[in-house]
Amino acid sequence: MNTVIIREREDAFDALLEEAAIALRNGKLAAFPTETVYGLGANAFDDEACKRIYSAKGRPSDNPLIVHVCDMDMAKALVQDCDERFFRLAEAFWPGPISFVLKKNEKVCNTVSAGLDTVAIRMPDHELALSLIRRAGVPIAAPSANLSGRPSPTRSEHVIFDLSGRVDYILCSERFPIGVESTVLDLSTKESVILRPGAINERMILERTGIRVKSQDGAAPVSVPKSPGTKYKHYSPEARVFMVDADFRAEDVPAFAASKGVSASRTKFLEYPNDVRMARDLFADFREADLQHYELVLVKAPDSGDLLEANLNRLKKACES
Ligand code: TXA
Ligand code: MG
Repeated sequence: MNTVIIREREDAFDALLEEAAIALRNGKLAAFPTETVYGLGANAFDDEACKRIYSAKGRPSDNPLIVHVCDMDMAKALVQDCDERFFRLAEAFWPGPISFVLKKNEKVCNTVSAGLDTVAIRMPDHELALSLIRRAGVPIAAPSANLSGRPSPTRSEHVIFDLSGRVDYILCSERFPIGVESTVLDLSTKESVILRPGAINERMILERTGIRVKSQDGAAPVSVPKSPGTKYKHYSPEARVFMVDADFRAEDVPAFAASKGVSASRTKFLEYPNDVRMARDLFADFREADLQHYELVLVKAPDSGDLLEANLNRLKKACES
């Protein structure tokens, strides 16, 4: 398959964006940037197109997709009835890095919901994504635009590396994304439960909406049936990943590597100045470590910031074997 690559700054950008949006509406696949990670989109009302997402990614089909919308009317058209919590939360955080799980209506195709009676919806805070959805005129189902099992793509070259030849369009942005996927908040039951931690955390939700949410232990969600995606191994490079303490120093690398039977030269040590930089760069650094054939990746444990829980969750998942 020929993949059309569209860059934000090229002259024909507007015409190409229009072309991709129409193709998307008509059943083609287009990868696009969002403020969290890149997504691989298909028309959420088109079952065949959504099935192709799974084959392009090599993704297990029991893992449901998040539907991306550009306005509230589009969101409301996907659900049975809008819970009052949903309006307050959307008002506070959309467009933004949080997806809400609600009871779906019959318009959402089965492939999107993977057999569940709910649908996860989000309005991304990225002009290119919003413009693409608006022009397509239909909600867009989109998982992260990586091959299944690889870290989510946070740079356009990651998407091109994983999906070139497997999808119809790849839209590239210059902007750095947050780097961790959206918070997934389940509103389909009485209790509001965070199924996946992201940039919008429990404290922000309480402060801005007065809504108290429960955090499912995001660090160990291996057998959580509520959000099937969380049971798969994610985010990990080929190299074995270990989290090391805050007092670990570069001088400690040789001894640690030796204890795992690996030489220090094949070991990459990653540490970040703050939570924002860790979120932004961790997945890119994992991919880079693989390209350079490192066998071990040691990551200094995050200890603070609004993104602490999300960072810790992604890192712990990469450490799982
Ligand atoms: O930031 C993001 O959310 C990115 C960008 C592209 O928007 N998307 C993303 O999609 O991370 P994906 O498919 O890689 O992860 C979606 C997560 C999975 O863990 C999935 O199980 C969960 O959301 N999910 C989707 N629909 C659900 C539903 N109806 N109920 C519970 N969990 C759901
Ligand atoms: Mg994903």
